[in-house]
Amino acid sequence: MSDIEDNRKVTVTSALPYVHGVPHLGNFAGSVLPAELYHRYLDLRGVDNEFVCGGDVHGTPLELEALERDENPEDIKDEQVKKVKEAYESLDVDFSIFSDTHSEYNRRQTHEMFEELYCSGLIDEKTQNMAFCLEDERFLPDRYIEGECPNCEGLARGDQCDDCGKLVEPEEIIDPECQICGSREIEFRDTKHLFLDLGEYKDEIREWLKNGDRVPENMENQILHDLEEAEDRSITRDQNWGFEVPVDRVNERIEEENLDVESLDPDTYEEKVLYVWFDAPIGYIGFTRELFEDEGWQEYWNKDAETVYSIGKDNAIFHAVIWPTMLLGASNQEIEYSMPDYEFIQQYLMWEEGAFSKSRDRGVFIDEAVNVYPADYWRFYVTRMLPTDHDTNFSWKDFEAEINNVLNDTVGNFVNRTLSLSEKWFDGEFPLGEPREADTETIHEAENLIEEYRDAFEEKRPQEALEKALELARLGDRYLSEEEPWNNEDRRAETINVSIRIIRGLGATLYPFMPETSKNIEEMLNADIHTSEGVDELTDPLLGGLEPGHELGKREILFEKIDTSGKQEEQENMQKDTEHETQDENRFNQETVSYEQFQEMEIRTGEVEKVEEHPDADRLYVVQVDVGETSLQTCAGLKNHYTKQELEGREVVVLANLEPSELRGKTSECMMLAAESEDGEKVSLLDIEKAHEPGDEVL
Ligand code: MF3
Ligand code: ZN
Repeated sequence: MSDIEDNRKVTVTSALPYVHGVPHLGNFAGSVLPAELYHRYLDLRGVDNEFVCGGDVHGTPLELEALERDENPEDIKDEQVKKVKEAYESLDVDFSIFSDTHSEYNRRQTHEMFEELYCSGLIDEKTQNMAFCLEDERFLPDRYIEGECPNCEGLARGDQCDDCGKLVEPEEIIDPECQICGSREIEFRDTKHLFLDLGEYKDEIREWLKNGDRVPENMENQILHDLEEAEDRSITRDQNWGFEVPVDRVNERIEEENLDVESLDPDTYEEKVLYVWFDAPIGYIGFTRELFEDEGWQEYWNKDAETVYSIGKDNAIFHAVIWPTMLLGASNQEIEYSMPDYEFIQQYLMWEEGAFSKSRDRGVFIDEAVNVYPADYWRFYVTRMLPTDHDTNFSWKDFEAEINNVLNDTVGNFVNRTLSLSEKWFDGEFPLGEPREADTETIHEAENLIEEYRDAFEEKRPQEALEKALELARLGDRYLSEEEPWNNEDRRAETINVSIRIIRGLGATLYPFMPETSKNIEEMLNADIHTSEGVDELTDPLLGGLEPGHELGKREILFEKIDTSGKQEEQENMQKDTEHETQDENRFNQETVSYEQFQEMEIRTGEVEKVEEHPDADRLYVVQVDVGETSLQTCAGLKNHYTKQELEGREVVVLANLEPSELRGKTSECMMLAAESEDGEKVSLLDIEKAHEPGDEVL
């Protein structure tokens, strides 16, 4: 059956995580999980593969943190890397190696690739105008300056706005502030930098992209567009933390080989380092070298090797345009680097419409997640929610439903039912009966599902592969119910035989997603599912292979039902607290509304009738407003701004047809309009100049 070359060598990677704090489920879904699933699938098939990853430690965030703590970045990186590594390992992520980009192996690999690129004429020097802090007497690259975004007035950090996501030129940032000393004494000065030429390989990269499925279909056009637009990228920075520019070795080579490129000026580059985005992807190779202690790693990176990546959509241009340029440009007589075979590119897993956010402490963080539920539950749910072609939303309620209705009621129930019947009827031995048509047909269907499972994984659709595994459980459950062995004594042996074989298939197919569950099934069946050689014919040893009379292991309950109502409430409350914030953030969003949309809003004059304190919320009043025909209730965050007396009897402007919602147990069915200062300190209700009756329309 195998149309797959199983002597291939595969390198699986996931975007190297930055290392500030414990990652959250959004990080897990965005990059690590698809790589982990694919890696374990290859293991299951017995394909020689390594899953390499590590912390992305250069760049400004760690340097800034070190400055703040008055330490060296080098001294704090290890603890930070460890936190990330342990978080992922607590989710049973099976890295072959988890290193960090500052490793010696990566330094060597980075310098080798730099040398090749430079000596091939793919790196040029240019002069750049950069922010310079007069106070600290140093340049302020990337996130060293922050200020107001020229597009949206949000917070622009370095070269990108946090709020609108647009790239900004540091010179355009309004009122920039030095992140080291807080000074605004910033001027722009000329400084020399090295740039990677992104024009040279456009044809090859276009060819590579079009020749086979390299990225998810929905990303292809954007990447082709990025490719056409790509301009040369600077790959050096005026800062200390990072790898030095290997001036000497480059100059020596130029001299030795009498190359037709300018040599590098040592004085210029002494104070500079390579840009974090230059050495980070090189880490994929550096870590492989580290894993193999420099012996034989080439087999995992030369043109015969297969390389598979998993990244978030914000990393697409780096991996589909810049990195391929580096791989092509740095290839030489010793090694021709493998171009990426496939890049899983994920959209975002969101936290109730907003992004998971470390800085805002919003979302489920991995340490918290594994504290409350087993790793397998999270792996299962996040796979179900994988943001493959659109953003998806995490919700506790949904999580509970998936665990209870799918894992427990479908998988757990079928396994438990089968094994307890086999205990009862056959004393825990694997029985053999007379197969009838229904039995052979069921086995045939199971084989088909496993085949489809394999295809789904080969075509890089892990979520669909999981669905096929679940189908196996559904098939078994349906079969057992239809055959009713409890009513037909002569059907018992064969139905249990078939069901146990399906459980074995289930144990194998679930392995990438839920390794712990797979191991439990293995133990309950007292039969290996996954050996270190892997299983190269997925169907055969999985559905067959058990001898009649084989002693099964001890039956255990696979899953437990969960109740997340407490968490749901927490999340709702948090969301309400942030609703204000998001309104603020969007105050100048550029989207327009049509006149029709505006007309849908019933804005009317009203009069405040009654004001009470909200029993469960510090900032809220519960207010009754007379809006003419009727009186409406609203929960208003005005307690810090108005006394009850100031409000009672006052004329207000009200959005009267607001969809009713509950705010901590009190209904809110309209909204009093008010002006609010950016920091939320000043709030003023709208006034109406002439006296109006409640209920007059505001147009
Ligand atoms: N640290 C980056 C991020 O989280 C990803 C780096 S991927 C690599 O967005 F290829 F550069 F390593
Ligand atoms: Zn400064």
